[in-house]
Amino acid sequence: MSVMHSSLAHFRPTGFDRMLAPIHRWVWRDSERRVQKLLRFGQTETDGGHDILRAAEMTSDPLLRRLYLKHAIDEYRHGELFRRRGTALLHTLPSKPEPAFQADWLAPGGHGLDDLHVEDESDNDLLAFLHLSEKAAASRFTVYRDVLRNDGPTCAVFEEILHDEVFHMSYTLTQLARVSPQHHRRHLWRARLGRLWKGYLRIATVLAGAMGTFFLIVQYFILLPPFVLLAKRAARREQPGWTPISADRNDSLDRQY
Ligand SMILES: [Fe+2]
Ligand SMILES: [Fe+2]
Repeated sequence: MSVMHSSLAHFRPTGFDRMLAPIHRWVWRDSERRVQKLLRFGQTETDGGHDILRAAEMTSDPLLRRLYLKHAIDEYRHGELFRRRGTALLHTLPSKPEPAFQADWLAPGGHGLDDLHVEDESDNDLLAFLHLSEKAAASRFTVYRDVLRNDGPTCAVFEEILHDEVFHMSYTLTQLARVSPQHHRRHLWRARLGRLWKGYLRIATVLAGAMGTFFLIVQYFILLPPFVLLAKRAARREQPGWTPISADRNDSLDRQY
């Protein structure tokens, strides 16, 4: 435990996460959103546990199997801790929370394991992916812990989980260097590029959604009104009741056209 504490003491969130601290503070300030985020984080951690348990089944390396099993148990425990804290906070709310804007792309949780098909990955690629994901989770959880100082029990949950995430971050790197001593840097770069690409796709999806909404609003308020006016003008010109038609259009009805 002392090893984990000392590595945690030296762990610093990335500059990007520190820069976003005011936004994270705003995201976590709302107590309804806090409850919903904690419950969702609980689910994500448990799902991550399932995937790592699957990795333990798939690997042929006995040491990795043991470490993956410990890792999966940690993730299940994180899920439980988040859920328990979320439920305790839920009972303090005056009313049932409405679904609130979660800002998940600003303050995500978990390890991004949903992006991964454990069965298709080699131990090298999985370890590289896990190392980067755990590092990202440790960085974000450090900031979340810091912005939640005024909520002691939630802050303590992040503090406790952070110890494990820092351990996950370091064991995955050590094991990657063991199983692939020559190429571990290449695996890390490949995993980095994969994460960058998925990050780009996530942002592009959010932007595409926002642009779609914007253009629909523009169409509704700018393009449609002239047609409404034209339709109203045409309706005013229309004579009420039956209108006689001209003789040349008034042929016999014994043919189709
Ligand atoms: Fe975790
Ligand atoms: Fe983890």
